[in-house]
Amino acid sequence: MSQDYFNAAAADWDTPVRIERAVRIAEVILREVHLSPKAVVADYGSGTGLIAAALAPHVARVVALDNAANMLVVLAEKCRASGITNIETRLCDIETEHFDAPFCDVFVSSLVLHHLRSPERYAAAAWQALRPGGLVVLIDLDLDDGDFHTGNDEVHHHGFERAALAKVFTAAGFVCQSLKTALTIRKVGRAGVAREFTLFILQARKD
Ligand SMILES: C[S@@+](CC[C@H](N)C(=O)[O-])C[C@H]1O[C@@H](n2cnc3c(N)ncnc32)[C@H](O)[C@@H]1O
Repeated sequence: MSQDYFNAAAADWDTPVRIERAVRIAEVILREVHLSPKAVVADYGSGTGLIAAALAPHVARVVALDNAANMLVVLAEKCRASGITNIETRLCDIETEHFDAPFCDVFVSSLVLHHLRSPERYAAAAWQALRPGGLVVLIDLDLDDGDFHTGNDEVHHHGFERAALAKVFTAAGFVCQSLKTALTIRKVGRAGVAREFTLFILQARKD
């Protein structure tokens, strides 16, 4: 089960490779998305908060949501150690819970959607979480034939076909504003051969 995998991996999650990847993803978000200093950002599937910590200096508050409690423990400890006071952690799983009321202006997820069963459920949850005018910002893998993941972490989607994913957000009520390549990652795939994987960034607004 994905939750068990991520709970077990949490203490050693922040490897140089993952940190460098998250820095690059956060740079793309900061370049592509206008973040108001007053914004409340939800980072869904925050893990140890590598993205949340990069966004926190630019916004009022980051709510880091994850269903792996150990990931959030690592994040909370890092915040304490480095004096970050505007990140709060919340244990949450949109596959079994829903948000009662809108609470954020931007709903970000990086490399999380392929671990969820239902993109439709994700889009509905983002809609519930966002205030009117809010933006969902999604970074994930393009279709990769299952080559990206070499471990035993539960993966429900081997990347996404961009046009099909955009339709999921449109059907949920969002207006798709931008969908483009975010970055390229070089990584040894399941086949044992190094290759390039592309990540997209999708932005869709709740109008
Ligand atoms: C590959 S990590 C990405 C972490 C972080 N977003 C980043 O880019 O560095 C995926 C994260 O999604 C979380 N996750 C997986 N399934 C989830 C679910 N159903 N609800 C909430 N979080 C989930 C995992 O616990 C893990 O922290």
